[in-house]
Amino acid sequence: MRELALHILDILQNTVEAGASRVSLIINEDPKDDRLTITVRDDGCGMDNETVLRTVDPFFTTRQTRHVGLGLPLFAAAAERAGGRLEIRSRPGIGTKVEATFRLSHPDRQPLGSMADTLLAFLLSEKALALEYIHRTAKDTFEFNTADIRKELGDELTMTHPAVRQWLRKFLAEGEQSVQT
Ligand SMILES: Nc1ncnc2c1ncn2[C@@H]1O[C@H](COP(=O)(O)OP(=O)(O)O)[C@@H](O)[C@H]1O
Ligand SMILES: [Mg+2]
Repeated sequence: MRELALHILDILQNTVEAGASRVSLIINEDPKDDRLTITVRDDGCGMDNETVLRTVDPFFTTRQTRHVGLGLPLFAAAAERAGGRLEIRSRPGIGTKVEATFRLSHPDRQPLGSMADTLLAFLLSEKALALEYIHRTAKDTFEFNTADIRKELGDELTMTHPAVRQWLRKFLAEGEQSVQT
């Protein structure tokens, strides 16, 4: 994968598979500390310590449809290549936090890529899930949560309605544009 946004989509997908109903995604680009931090928290099923340790093994997966799980190992490799690391904290029945750090200026750091596309794909496929999103850069902060979006759109419109999809695409693209450095 060339873009961190694609890794993030994979990590968001894990929260869905874990049965989460609330997910928070925070992207923090801090040029002063030369650090990029991506944090995903969920209130899904969680994992015990042994499972957390096994998630870095590319051949470990609990899913039935595919026999290798690569989401977390690839994200970890991307962080480690860029002077950072992946940290997973999880508690069964409580939830999970996945946090990747990168050296912002590291030559091997992958570009963030299109977060607007990742968010659109996630929001359109997971209509029932509550997402809180914060993207902070030296320039500005773009943040929203799905409850605000629903308020904006009114109850009669669903996320997959073509006009809503168009509004959402524009909202996300403009938000991401506003924090682009
Ligand atoms: N947020 C999460 N909550 C609970 N379990 C998780 C979470 N993320 C990953 N896992 C566990 O780690 C395994 C490996 O995840 P991953 O590397 O993304 O591969 P895959 O999703 O293809 O199985 C998953 O099958 C699941 O058991
Ligand atoms: Mg996965």
